Order: sequence, then C-alpha cells, then structure tokens
Amino acid sequence: MNLALLVQMAQRGDDTIRPLSASGLLHLQVYGVVLMFIFGVASRAVPAFTGLPRSELLAKALALALAASAAAYLVGALWVATGARSPALYRLEAAALSAVGPLFLLATWLVGIFRPAANRLASASQHHIWFIRTAFSWLLIAGGLGVYYGVRAGVDGAPISYYGLDAVRHTVAVGVASVMVVGMAMLVLPEFAIRRVRYPSERIPPLLILALLNSAAALRVGAAVATPHWISTDRYWPMAVAGGLAEVAILLFAALFVWSFLQKRSIVESQIPLRAAE
Ligand code: HEM
Repeated sequence: MNLALLVQMAQRGDDTIRPLSASGLLHLQVYGVVLMFIFGVASRAVPAFTGLPRSELLAKALALALAASAAAYLVGALWVATGARSPALYRLEAAALSAVGPLFLLATWLVGIFRPAANRLASASQHHIWFIRTAFSWLLIAGGLGVYYGVRAGVDGAPISYYGLDAVRHTVAVGVASVMVVGMAMLVLPEFAIRRVRYPSERIPPLLILALLNSAAALRVGAAVATPHWISTDRYWPMAVAGGLAEVAILLFAALFVWSFLQKRSIVESQIPLRAAE
C-alpha cells in the first residue's frame, strides 16, 4: 500500500501523500499491526505477573474482531480515497472506529492488569507495573475517544473529524504503544534485569521516564481534543512541548540501557563468588 501511495503521489505530481489517501494505511499500521502485537504480547506476559489464567478463546475473539474492525476501516478509507462520497461509506468508517471502544475494554479485561489475582513480580520490579497500568488507562481513554468521534460521525453520516482521528491515534501511539514498549523493555530485557541485582531499590529513573511519557501523551492528546475549538497555530505549543518531553524520555531510556549494558559483565561477575558460596 505504501508503494501504491507513492506511485499515486508521483502520478498526481504531488509533493506529499494526501492525508485522505494515507488514512487507511495509517489505521492498518496503528490498529492492525502495533496494537495487535501489543495485545498479543500483553495477554501472554501480563497474566504471568498477575496470576490470572490465560483465556485462549477470548484472545482469539479479540484478535479477529480487531482485525475485522481494521479491515472495515481500511475498505471505507480506500473507497473514500478513490473519490467516492456517501453517508454509508462514512458510517462504515465511523462504525469501525466506534468498535474500538468495546474492543479496548475487552483487551483490558483480557490482559487483567486491573484485576490481579496475585503479585508475582520481584519487589525490585514492582514499580514497572505502573507502565502497564498507565498504558492500559490510555487504552481505555482511546476507546472512549473512538466511541465519541465514531458515534458523532455515524449519526451525522459525515466524515470522522480529522482532529478526532488525530486524538485517538496519538492516544494509542504515545500513551499506549510508547509507554508499553518502554515499560516491557525495562521489565524483560536482561540488561535491566541484571541492573536490578545491583540497584534493587532504584525508582527514580523509570518513574521519571514514565512521568515524562505520560505528560507528553496528555499534552499531545489534549491539544488534539481541544483543536476544533482552538484553530490557531498556538495549539502547536503543547504539541512541541510534548515532543520535547518525549525526546527527553527516550534519551533517558537509551542512556539507562547503555549504562546497564556496560555494567552487565561486572554485575554478573560480582555474583559468581556469592553463588559459589551458596
Ligand atoms: C509526543 C510525541 C508526538 C508528538 C508531539 C507528535 C506531533 C504530531 C503533530 C504536530 C502532527 C501534525 C498534526 C497536525 O497537522 O494537526 C502529528 C501527526 C501525526 N503523528 Fe504524531 N506526534 C507524536 C507521536 C507520534 C507517534 C508515536 C506516532 C506513531 C507511532 C505518531 C503518528 C502520527 C501520524 C500518523 C500523524 C499524521 C500524519 C498525516 O496526517 O499524514 N505521532 N504528530
């Protein structure tokens, strides 16, 4: 699809791919790839921390329903991109977007982060669970926004607001995907696990990264939600601050990773005499 969009752009003599043409592909990437992958990993990994049984049937149903909603949106968006305009097509896109509400609720239930049956994380890893909790809180917000913008467009038989799509997309991309990727990396990468052997009570760096990412998500999404009532270039200020905060978070994460990587060998070697004595 990317290639087809580039060919179409060249044929039209445009400098960029038109947003209307790219809408279906963006939807497919965010919901069909990124979220599908996150739900797959989280529904396997999180029950291991929370002591919940894994529900294979529910996971399959969720994957199929999410795929169906992404495919329905894609069909509608591609059709609209060819120049077709009809309330029925807009309603198809709106229904596909509204469907994320119940699906995100189901995903949150399935992953079970808010209904733990046990606490199986080592005490040095306890605060990392906040990454998963906040990511799924953003997912619920994304679901709510999806229903709001989807139902509004569906009732009117009109296109979904560009700013609404932008708000839902950034809630998922910054609040869910970025927070989840960073949090799960901190939980499962050997570099960070070995680091916790030396610094079992280290709280500030991960929680600072989490606070920065959450503030970035709130500012970026807040500006998008406010936009229909705030059509001025001033609205780019909170977005710019969000970008700056997210950059700092990613740099801190990278620095922590490199530092942990460099210390890994010395931490492992310092444990060998202790293990031998056990
Ligand atoms: C805090 C981090 C981020 C900031 C500050 C930010 C900022 C922006 C801005 C200013 C726009 C243009 C909006 C407009 O013209 O009204 C935009 C569009 C977009 N952003 Fe982000 N973004 C962030 C994170 C992300 C992430 C993580 C993703 C995806 C993984 C993403 C995907 C997109 C997409 C797909 C568009 C639409 C492009 C188009 O319409 O062709 N953004 N973003």
